[in-house]
Amino acid sequence: MLSNRQLFLSHIAQTSPAPMLLELVRAEGIYLYDTQDKAYIDLISGFAVSNIGHSHPKVLEAVRAQTERYMHLMVYGEVVQTPQVVYAKALTDHLPKHLNTVYFTNSGAEATEGAMKLAKRVTGRSQFVHFKNSYHGSTQGALSVMGDEYFKQSFRPLLPDILMLDYNNREQLSAISERTAAVLIDPIQAESGATVPSSEFMESLRERCTATGALLIMDEAQTGFGRTGKLWGFQHFDCEPDILMLAKAIGGGMPLGAFIASQEHMRTFTENPVLGHITTFGGHPVSCASGLAAFNVLFEENLIASVESKGQLFESLLSQNQHIKSFRRKGLMMALEFETAELNQKIVHQCVKNGLVTDWFLFAPHSLRICPPLTISSTQIEVACLLLLKSIAEITN
Ligand SMILES: Cc1ncc(COP(=O)(O)O)c(C=O)c1O
Repeated sequence: MLSNRQLFLSHIAQTSPAPMLLELVRAEGIYLYDTQDKAYIDLISGFAVSNIGHSHPKVLEAVRAQTERYMHLMVYGEVVQTPQVVYAKALTDHLPKHLNTVYFTNSGAEATEGAMKLAKRVTGRSQFVHFKNSYHGSTQGALSVMGDEYFKQSFRPLLPDILMLDYNNREQLSAISERTAAVLIDPIQAESGATVPSSEFMESLRERCTATGALLIMDEAQTGFGRTGKLWGFQHFDCEPDILMLAKAIGGGMPLGAFIASQEHMRTFTENPVLGHITTFGGHPVSCASGLAAFNVLFEENLIASVESKGQLFESLLSQNQHIKSFRRKGLMMALEFETAELNQKIVHQCVKNGLVTDWFLFAPHSLRICPPLTISSTQIEVACLLLLKSIAEITN
């Protein structure tokens, strides 16, 4: 009989020549467990998904209760479903007034697609501006605004009329013009390795968008839900988006995404053509019930209040290591830069051997990703840092 690992390699579509290949059978809190019941500390939260940790009892209960009521009923936007409307209300209660209408999607990439379509519809323009080393998803619209040619080259032609600027470069913002439908940006750029822009840059970006009538689309797939020490990443700046994109942690571990805009803007999807964006499963009731429960846990357990001090603890325990060239951080989104990508990858593999799951960044292969559940305790941070330092020492000695 073939092992699950062999079945994975022969029947699951592969996208990497060297997958992690851990066979995980359960997860709880900050821990992942393999078939031998070996525990691994999850230092990446499934890429900023499991912000409240794995298998939170309140999320499990919400999922159980919802599956007993109903699962899928109807394509998006036709019938009133309690988990959807209650979650939309909860999200918009925590957003600026103009961000009052939610379109729930299946994923982050679909949220990008929807946000881009909405911007075209609202402005009647076609140009999109995005930033080098940004990632907004892997479908063809989202890929068109991916900040690295290597990942796009084999899939052209993609969308025309795309302009890429350097992140955090104020001078280049003048290229945003009356032709621009929208600018897509991460408030803290995740995949370049936790790059924090200056307040001046973010404020100038807002000013330039307002002056030219270009919509500002903020991608909070990774920065949302408390990750950076505030509920939303844009709250670090005097810069509110016209369209907010959410994904990853929004579903509490279930597949979900959203783009949120004003009702006036969102109404453009109801005419000419009607059904401006269609989805069968977007806003699935079980995903919304799970996401809502996770969202409530963020507040009930006051998780965001300790994000900054936990990030500081990581920084104080790690940043002095001689092999770490730079330590970038916003809240609990962290990047440890090593001399080379090769060294980083060896350290990441050694970490896994030592019971610590981490990874590198799409556009920063020489930087190690730390993005743990926000529930991680001080003691667990100390253990994780000891394991990480041990792994660095074993590789560099
Ligand atoms: C910043 C950002 N935007 C969008 C996406 C796309 O989300 P999804 O994988 O759910 O399509 C990702 C996924 O990694 C992301 O990191």
